[in-house]
Amino acid sequence: MDTQISFAPPRGMRDFYPEDMLLRERLFDTWRAAARRFSFSPYDACVVESLDLLKRKSGEEIVEQIYSFADKSGRELALRAEMTPTLARMIAARQGSLRFPLKWYAIAQCFRYERMTRGRKREHYQWNLDIVGEESVLAEVEVLSAAVSAISELGLKPSDYKIHFNNRALLSEIFAKIGIETRYHAAAFLAMDKRGKIPNEEIECSLRQQGLPSEAASSVLSLINITSLDEVKKQLGNETPALKRMQDFQNAADAAGISGTLVFDLSVVRGLSYYTGMVFEAFDTDRKFRAIFGGGRYDNLLGDIGAKPMTAVGLGFGDVVIAELLNEKGKNLANCRTTDIAIGYMTTEQSQLAVRIATALRNAGHNVDLRLTPEKPRSFFSYAGSGVAAEAIFIGPDEQSSGILKIKNLSDGTQRAAAINDLLGICANRRNPDE
Ligand code: HAM
Repeated sequence: MDTQISFAPPRGMRDFYPEDMLLRERLFDTWRAAARRFSFSPYDACVVESLDLLKRKSGEEIVEQIYSFADKSGRELALRAEMTPTLARMIAARQGSLRFPLKWYAIAQCFRYERMTRGRKREHYQWNLDIVGEESVLAEVEVLSAAVSAISELGLKPSDYKIHFNNRALLSEIFAKIGIETRYHAAAFLAMDKRGKIPNEEIECSLRQQGLPSEAASSVLSLINITSLDEVKKQLGNETPALKRMQDFQNAADAAGISGTLVFDLSVVRGLSYYTGMVFEAFDTDRKFRAIFGGGRYDNLLGDIGAKPMTAVGLGFGDVVIAELLNEKGKNLANCRTTDIAIGYMTTEQSQLAVRIATALRNAGHNVDLRLTPEKPRSFFSYAGSGVAAEAIFIGPDEQSSGILKIKNLSDGTQRAAAINDLLGICANRRNPDE
């Protein structure tokens, strides 16, 4: 006997019922509008990538989480876990003809076989904003400003979240100053990123296993006590290229009006190994959730896949954490009515008239919910009044014979009369304004 098929999606995957889609569409619309405000161009790509590209060009942590499979010809493929390697591949394919710097955005569906926690799913959507081919810190400020603009459009206040930023190049300078050889820097970055996630003893032990002398391993971890750029300056002793860049970044962020959301945080390193410069992660102020978004500057990715080396900066902003945070703050994105007018009718005699009115209104740009079977007024108004639409029109034999109907405002119950012919005529005129 066949076993019952589960009605739940595969573990960690997501179904979007209409109420979920309303929220998702509002979020995507807000992301798209912010991207347009900052003049980013849209792009998209296949969800299935070659496993090789993802394995070689994603961060270590992500590689372990890749959903991979072989196609029927034995090609090793994977569902993308992030968009950045794909972006690099697309740019590499047209590097000779594209105009740089370029500013691109995408809303990418990503898959990661992760341990699921609050705010972490195995499938998520990620708004990606990237600027490729621009060295100036204005590029960092531009992607961050676009993200800030979207967050504010979503209804969050600057006090609801903070963007923690750091610079891997600055950390490298500090590592060098405390005597850690360049060959250990990558391991030291990952150690910083693991802080707070796994016990310090484990991090130190792993650093020692990778060849770092014990003293150096513990000094890497003690860096976390540095909480301001002034302390970094003291540690480094003099002005360095990375310090200068941090200063330029802060000045530009000031001019863009986003410095109030920024916090210098030496512990932000990012798990992805391709970052080379500024890195950032945004968190809710109460630190209840995982990162709202994260990103940074990555200078080697294009060169690493065999293209002409080019600097780039970008961020990924997921749909899951922001939805939880908005919910926590009582902002209901899904709470928006999309239908203007509901139309019902009493008997089949009025159905054609109802269809004509609905058609005229739709042609005039209104969103209309036309009932598909005759019904009693009570049943129609009980449906239409349940938050479905802003206004309602009910057509019975009386309206049909008199040629006058009532448009009811469903919020305050007031009614206004309208001649059916006028309504059809006005709508027809609005449809063809040039005629
Ligand atoms: P990421 O930090 O791995 O960066 O992901 C960016 C954001 O995607 C996270 O801050 C989070 O909002 C969301 N996210 C990631 N994984 C999950 C998950 N399992 N469930 C729910 N949300 C998730 C990157 O992916 C980089 N490629 C971003 C980037 C673009 N860097 C440069 N350009």
